Amino acid sequence: MADRILLTGGLGFIGSAMIDHLLSRYPDMTLVCLDALTYAGRRENVASHLSDPRFTLAIGDICDSELLADLFDRYRFTCVLNFAAETHVDRSIQDAAPFIHTNVEGVNALLEQVRRHPSTRFVQISTDEVYGPVSLTERTAKTEEAKLEPTSPYAASKAAGDLLALSYFRTYGLDVVITRSSNCYGPRQYPEKLIPLTIERIVNDRPIPVYGAGHNLRDWLHVEDDCQGIEIAMRKGTKGGIYNISAHDEHSVLEVVTSIANALGREPRIEHVADRLGHDARYLIATERIEALGFVPTHRFADDIAAVVRSYLDD
Ligand SMILES: NC(=O)c1ccc[n+]([C@@H]2O[C@H](COP(=O)([O-])OP(=O)(O)OC[C@H]3O[C@@H](n4cnc5c(N)ncnc54)[C@H](O)[C@@H]3O)[C@@H](O)[C@H]2O)c1
Repeated sequence: MADRILLTGGLGFIGSAMIDHLLSRYPDMTLVCLDALTYAGRRENVASHLSDPRFTLAIGDICDSELLADLFDRYRFTCVLNFAAETHVDRSIQDAAPFIHTNVEGVNALLEQVRRHPSTRFVQISTDEVYGPVSLTERTAKTEEAKLEPTSPYAASKAAGDLLALSYFRTYGLDVVITRSSNCYGPRQYPEKLIPLTIERIVNDRPIPVYGAGHNLRDWLHVEDDCQGIEIAMRKGTKGGIYNISAHDEHSVLEVVTSIANALGREPRIEHVADRLGHDARYLIATERIEALGFVPTHRFADDIAAVVRSYLDD
């Protein structure tokens, strides 16, 4: 049966990469992108698909139950990929309300529609941040069974969304799958995030704000590898299953800034600023479960960062 997919948040960074990933592989797919076009969404991110008959762009909020009911009744989706979210940790520390709206109430509104259409698979796109931090020297990675200990309101709202999705699996037997990815990099990320922000600052010869000493580690996953992992979970994941996705490619914030400066052939002007409240030192996730389904990352940060930098200069 041909896929009929509702992909939410497709005007953002990873959602738009997933649209590219799916439409380049499945000639008979129907794909509806629902996005509220918040500050983080850009129509240009799907410009190449707007005239594709397989693709429909709907502008709207995932909390709008009437709109959702109309889309679900009209398209009879085989699968929902829920990328829509408020995603910037710093913003969540300023004001958590939009995070609760989209990352919790939005998940609930989507799950209610899946209850009306129980043959639809619901894939909740989540994050390694729900497990909370580990120390810089920790060696034991968090499996999918690890306790959820989110630090930021962003991570807490994502954990709440995950728990709601699992409750709909346990209570109503809905076909729910959750993916938890590490930090993604690639083209088209909103410029408030570390990599595009650093590029913009270096190009404009402005100082790059780095929290604290800049030794915090992040585990970098190319957005194309994330899409590969999410598709594997979508197609092969078990009902109620949770799948961590990572390429085990850790680099500190300072290393990332230096790599970008090297790619641009410039000296970075680093400005150490007061650390983010509750700044997580590091996340560490075990990925045997997604690997057992065939996930093999194909990118390494050191090999790919120059091409990613170029994509922002061309944008
Ligand atoms: N970026 C990462 O490194 C990373 C890592 C792990 C998990 N994730 C998860 O992946 C998903 C996508 O992240 P991203 O970095 O692409 O995000 P993004 O901020 O680039 O894009 C989010 C998109 O969601 C849309 N949106 C926000 N609220 C909405 C609402 N109420 N209704 C409909 N659309 C709405 C925005 O307009 C935007 O297009 C998120 O769920 C995030 O938690 C991201």
